[in-house]
Amino acid sequence: MTFLSKRINNLSESQTIKMAKLGRELTAKGIDVINLSFGEPDFFTPEHLKEAAKKAVDENYSYYTPVSGYPELRKAIVEKLKNENDLTYTFDQIVVSTGAKQSLANVVLCLVNPGEEVIVPTPYWVSYSEMIKLAEGETVFINATVEHDFKITAAQLEAAITPKTKLFMFSSPCNPTGSVYSHEELASLAAVFEKYPNIYIISDEIYEHINFVDKHASIAAFDAIKDRVIIINGFSKAYAMTGWRVGYMASNKEIANACDKLQGQITSGTSSISQRAALAAYQNGLETVTAMKDEFKKRRDIVYALLKEVPGIQVNLPYGAFYFFPTVKDYFGKSVNGNVISNAEDLCLYLLNEAHVSTVTGGAFGNEECIRISYAAAEDQLIEAVSRIKEALSKLS
Ligand SMILES: Cc1ncc(COP(=O)(O)O)c(C=O)c1O
Repeated sequence: MTFLSKRINNLSESQTIKMAKLGRELTAKGIDVINLSFGEPDFFTPEHLKEAAKKAVDENYSYYTPVSGYPELRKAIVEKLKNENDLTYTFDQIVVSTGAKQSLANVVLCLVNPGEEVIVPTPYWVSYSEMIKLAEGETVFINATVEHDFKITAAQLEAAITPKTKLFMFSSPCNPTGSVYSHEELASLAAVFEKYPNIYIISDEIYEHINFVDKHASIAAFDAIKDRVIIINGFSKAYAMTGWRVGYMASNKEIANACDKLQGQITSGTSSISQRAALAAYQNGLETVTAMKDEFKKRRDIVYALLKEVPGIQVNLPYGAFYFFPTVKDYFGKSVNGNVISNAEDLCLYLLNEAHVSTVTGGAFGNEECIRISYAAAEDQLIEAVSRIKEALSKLS
């Protein structure tokens, strides 16, 4: 028997990966499973980015890269933040990483001491709580409900703050709810942070471009707190580049230097080829991004209309990302053929085995009453999936 560290034993298995695995097992048995548990665009990486990567191979971009990324990519990120977000950063405030996930982990590990508190609104993205555990921090959850479009208020935020609070961490657009904070809503949160100068704010903006409101709003726009905001972003979602592994953070220089130091000891700079493709993404406009966003919006509208027709579930209209997060608690306690649905996890397993549709339990995101349905799938598959879900749910009594 191997005695693994407490650190790894305390870490939870990713529920999204678990559901995808169960789905694949059924598919291997020849069952037609519709997988709506994935957190990635079903589109291919745009052609011009693939071409940039091929060119990089031919031009021998094969050596170790600078830990914080190629200077030209970091400069392109500075330009992007200025042009798209009206935010001013300098080149040395940007650290490119192996995906937004690494940037998030870097920042949490660089800021949080054992016992310090990190405030996380629920529902939250699966890995936040596990990263905080790795840093030996304490997570303080704020419950955001479907009635409030899964967004927290300034009053809720202030009530969660204690002398031990070090960090606040959230995503907008949000995975798993698709909720998007407006500039005004962020202003009210920023006004609270202004009163607490020792609290840092991680603003995870990885879904920035899959956003069906007019303009993406960032909490870094508020000058009084900007120095304490760490923006996390990347290329995975907007450019359908999940497997290429390029993300970045923008922050004050001290935090950026700390992340560079940590990354320098763990992974070094991310893939040279992927960085060249990412550079091409930021140098060539938003045409492909907009086309993908329009397609997601079309699907969102179709799935929303269909989900509204499913009895016993409550669903909010997501304004960003590519997920629905319906409340399914009305089905708890119901059963079919002796199979009792006690919670959201049971319901997800039932939907997988009965409807052959793979979803993820809300428990993975800190909400036990919901399930996450990804609409990163083709339109006909989505229509078929909701029809199967509806039929399977109708069998429960
Ligand atoms: C909210 C959120 N942040 C970060 C990530 C990680 O992105 P990346 O693939 O760039 O590591 C994801 C991926 O699902 C996400 O949903």
